[in-house]
Amino acid sequence: MLLLNCAIATMMPTPAYGLIEDGCIVINGDIIQWVGPKSDLPKDISQQDAQDMQGRLITPALIDCHTHIVHGGYRATEFEMRLNGASYEQIARAGGGIISTVTDTRAATETDLLQSALTRVDALIAEGVTIIEVKSGYGLDIDTELKMLRVARSIEQHRNVRIKTSFLGAHAVPPEYASCPNDYVTQVCIPALEAAAQLGLIDAVDGFCESIAFTPDQIAQVFTRAKDLHLPVKLHAEQLSQTGGTQLAAKFGALSVDHVEYASANDAKVLSKSGTVAVLLPGAFYTLQETRKPPVYAFRKHSVPMALATDCNPGSSPLSSILLALNMGCIFFGLTPEEALAGITRHAARALGLNDCGIIDAGMRADLAIWDVSHPSELAYRIGFNPLHKRIFGGQLCH
Ligand code: NIG
Ligand code: FE
Repeated sequence: MLLLNCAIATMMPTPAYGLIEDGCIVINGDIIQWVGPKSDLPKDISQQDAQDMQGRLITPALIDCHTHIVHGGYRATEFEMRLNGASYEQIARAGGGIISTVTDTRAATETDLLQSALTRVDALIAEGVTIIEVKSGYGLDIDTELKMLRVARSIEQHRNVRIKTSFLGAHAVPPEYASCPNDYVTQVCIPALEAAAQLGLIDAVDGFCESIAFTPDQIAQVFTRAKDLHLPVKLHAEQLSQTGGTQLAAKFGALSVDHVEYASANDAKVLSKSGTVAVLLPGAFYTLQETRKPPVYAFRKHSVPMALATDCNPGSSPLSSILLALNMGCIFFGLTPEEALAGITRHAARALGLNDCGIIDAGMRADLAIWDVSHPSELAYRIGFNPLHKRIFGGQLCH
């Protein structure tokens, strides 16, 4: 297939957006064979399957690199409680929050979990997403963690989308282990991790390092096992307070540290050495009405790649719009529209350890988004408006 008459934001680092004004893309099977200005199109390229893009903009398909999209129930009551004055921590400590979703997820059938996840997956697909990371972590017992991961994997059978799974057994301490969190780690979390790895259900291992969740020592135990199993790690770190999670994750060569509102300038320096991506989650910042912002200036100064994601979950970020996350990344955290778009393409791919997507270049997978806009800055600029024309997934035009 030959895509003609389009602007292309390749998302290569230079020039801005990797922009090609009047470009062409040649796709062979599910791979990009050639991309460049129309004037350089090789003469021997067949014009047979040429598609006129009528001046539209093409970007890499979008990547949501941090979601909890598979879960039972929802938490609108908690939303009401917060607006009546309770804090996220108070609700969590009173057995609400993540634990209330655990109860609903344990009770749900795989069919129910899949059906409810697909409604949110469809919202992301409608905005040009082709890769979604999905975490476990609302099971907190071996069977339910495996159930969530099976459901996550099965999404690929029902939609034109790629799924990357992260094991998040260290998300919260379940009520039955409230008095002995160390036992939860050794008796449930690590055995669940081993079982899931054995079944090939996970691509990475995540954790929640926070005073209301797990200590750096407990996370280190989980990460050590992950390394034995040759699985990459990532971490929810420095979301509500400074716990040292960012530096711990960097020590383990983490793919990403996520949230990082309380990360310091020194943390940024450490991340740049380990090559770890900082994943910014403006949906949680917004929903929890946080005021502390991630140290974007320090990330920039130390060339730490920044990604953006929805953090789609029923509590802290009931957000299933990657375009709104894009806009929020600019407005709340001060990213430029170009940094924000790199955050849901090139840097999001890196946060997932993927090197076949996130930019438009020869040899990459042909996962593209075609937009009814004329310049890539429009994608972050609009609020509550979806200009997607079509997606190309694995070389096939689809919705
Ligand atoms: O990324 N921080 C921990 N985990 C989720 C919250 C999940 C929930 O509230 O259910 C997050 O914000
Ligand atoms: Fe999260």
